[in-house]
Amino acid sequence: MILPIVAFGDPVLRKVAVEINADYPELKTLIANMKETMYNAAGVGLAAPQIGKSIRLFLIDASPFADDEELSEKDRDVLKNFNKVFINARILKEEGTEWVFNEGCLSIPDVREDVFRQPEITIEYQDEEFKTHTETLNGLAARVFQHEYDHIDGILFTDKLSTLKKRLIKKKLEHISKGKIRANYRMRFPNLKKKK
Ligand code: NI
Repeated sequence: MILPIVAFGDPVLRKVAVEINADYPELKTLIANMKETMYNAAGVGLAAPQIGKSIRLFLIDASPFADDEELSEKDRDVLKNFNKVFINARILKEEGTEWVFNEGCLSIPDVREDVFRQPEITIEYQDEEFKTHTETLNGLAARVFQHEYDHIDGILFTDKLSTLKKRLIKKKLEHISKGKIRANYRMRFPNLKKKK
């Protein structure tokens, strides 16, 4: 089932999400629905707060990036297979000189901006069977993870922009929260004015 994606301005996107355990109700169904929702919106990641649930769960399928011919064959291979569910994830270490990448977000349609992040991270998370893994991610794989991870801490990529950039996109963000935007997937807008 495709779920509506929560738009910028909804308080659920600002909460620090809570950890879950294997008793979380209907978790398998939730994950399946989130996958369907992510693919339907052509996203490379989706975090639970974006479908209105403040829990520490997100999905990534970075395989669309594997077509980027500027990447090394090794990086493309990693991205092609970077399709995972992350539960109760933590970033243990972030390293390297910040690099810039043009990010977007399904909750903030039509806004894309350059964001600086560190290139290498060591992470710990649980998979769908609640088995714990520790891994190191680099480059775009790390980038997508950092973006989704921010969502479960109530952070959006637009928070990381310069004061000037923030000012320039303020109106656009207001419009998004009011539903004055066209997205080609289902959304839920926090400040939608109901027609009388
Ligand atoms: Ni996002």
